[in-house]
Amino acid sequence: MVNKNKTVWSNRFKNSTSKSFQRIGASINVDKRLYSQDIFASKIHTQMLIKNKIIPSKDGKKIIRGLDKIKKQIDKGKFNFKEKFEDIHLNIEKKLYENIGNSAGYMHTARSRNDQVVTDFKLWVKDSTLLIIKELNLLMKNIVNIAEKNISTVMPGFTHLKNAQPISFAHYLLAYYEMLNRDKKRFYNSLVLMNESPLGAAALSGTSYNIDRTFTAKKLGFNKPTNNSIDTVSDRDFAIDFLYCCAVCAMHLSRLAEDFIILNSDAYQLIEFNDKMLTGSSIMPQKKNPDPAELIRGRTGINYGKLNSILTIMKGLPISYFKDLQDDKALVFDGFDTLKDTLIMSNELIKNVKPNNKRMLEMANTGYTTATDFADYLVKEKKLSFREAYKISSKIVNYAEKNKKTLDKLSLKELKKFYKDLNYKVLKVFNVKNSVNSKNSFGGTSEKNITKMIKKYKKDLK
Ligand code: ARG
Repeated sequence: MVNKNKTVWSNRFKNSTSKSFQRIGASINVDKRLYSQDIFASKIHTQMLIKNKIIPSKDGKKIIRGLDKIKKQIDKGKFNFKEKFEDIHLNIEKKLYENIGNSAGYMHTARSRNDQVVTDFKLWVKDSTLLIIKELNLLMKNIVNIAEKNISTVMPGFTHLKNAQPISFAHYLLAYYEMLNRDKKRFYNSLVLMNESPLGAAALSGTSYNIDRTFTAKKLGFNKPTNNSIDTVSDRDFAIDFLYCCAVCAMHLSRLAEDFIILNSDAYQLIEFNDKMLTGSSIMPQKKNPDPAELIRGRTGINYGKLNSILTIMKGLPISYFKDLQDDKALVFDGFDTLKDTLIMSNELIKNVKPNNKRMLEMANTGYTTATDFADYLVKEKKLSFREAYKISSKIVNYAEKNKKTLDKLSLKELKKFYKDLNYKVLKVFNVKNSVNSKNSFGGTSEKNITKMIKKYKKDLK
C-alpha cells in the first residue's frame, strides 16, 4: 500500500526534503494552472494504456473516473494543493490514490513527469495562443471601426516627429491593424511548430512498453508525435516562440500607446480620451493623465523580460531535463497575463479615443507639409527633373517661412516668382485633403485606397 503522505520516492531516501527547499522548489503554486491539461493528458494516456493492454482495463477505467472527479473538485476550488508533493502532476497522482486506492498506481506506466510536463505545458500554450488571437481579433475589429469613421480626417503625418506629409487618421490607425495582423499570423505560425505531441518520450529515452504515440497525439489534438525522445523532454522552443510573439505584439501596442500619449499631450492636442481612460493628480487639480496608455507602454518591459529570462535559462542547459526548466511556466504564465491585460487595455483605449479634427487639420497645414506635392506637380506638369523641382519647392518654403505664411496661403503671384510658367491650377496642390487623395499608389493614404482596404479587412475579420 502506498503511503499517501509520503513522496513517491520516499523508499529510496533516508531523509525527507528540507523544509526550505520544499517551499522554494515546489512549483505547485504556479503549475496548478495546468490542472485541466494534466488531467486531460492523463486520461488520454490511460485510454491508450487500456487499448494496448498495457494495464488492466478495470484499473484504467477507475483511473479515468477518478481523474474526472478530481477535475470537478479543482474546478470548484475544493482541492487542497500540497507543497510537499511539489507539482501539479504529483498532487493529482497522490489525490488519485486517496480516491481510488492502488489502481492509481497504474497511471504512471510508460511515462515520466518529463514528457508529462511538456505535454501539459504545450497544451496550455496552444489554448492560450488562441485566447490571445481572440483578443487580437477584437482589437483589430475596433481599429477598423474607428478608422471607418475617420477616412476623411486629415492629420499631419510625422517623420522624426516633424510634420512630414498630410495623411488620413484612418490610414494611421490601419497601420496598427497591419502590425497586429502580422502578430496574429506570428502566433498562428508558432502553433504549427508546436503541434507535435511529447507524450511517450518518457524520461528521455522513450519506453519499452508497446505504446501508441500516434493515438495519444491525435486524441490530444496534436498533428503527430515528436521524432526524438531526448529532444522532446529538453525542448522549450514552443515557450520561447510564445514569449517572442508576446514581446513583438507588446512592442507594437507600446508604439500605439506612445503615439497616443504624444498625440494627446498638451503640446499636440490631436486626440482626446474619454475620462474613462484618464486619471487625475493628487496635487494638480487640472490634470488628466493617460495612465492606461502608459501602462501598455511600460509593461512591454515585462514581456521582454520574460523572453530574456527563458532564453537565458535555456542557453547553457545540457540535454535533457533539468530542474532549471521548471521556471519556464511562471515566465510564460506572466507573459500571457501581461499581454492579455495589455490587449484588454488597448481595446478600451481604441474605443475611447476621439480625434480633434480641427486641430489635426490646422497642424496638417503647418510645417509646409505639401512641399513635396508642389515638387511632384512640377515634375508631372512641367516635366522638370525631381531634383530641379525639389530645389524650387525648397525656395518657396524658405519664402513662406520668412513671410510667416502657410503654403496654402501663398498667392499665384508669389509662387510665380519662383517658377514663371504657373497658373491657378497649381493652387490645389497645397490643399492637404487633395494631397491625401493624390496618394493613390497601392498602400497609400488616399480615401479611395483606405475605403478599399477597410472593405478587405472587414471581410478578413469575418
Ligand atoms: N515540476 C517539474 C517541472 O515543472 C516537472 C518535471 C519534473 N521532472 C523531474 N525529473 N524532476 O519541470
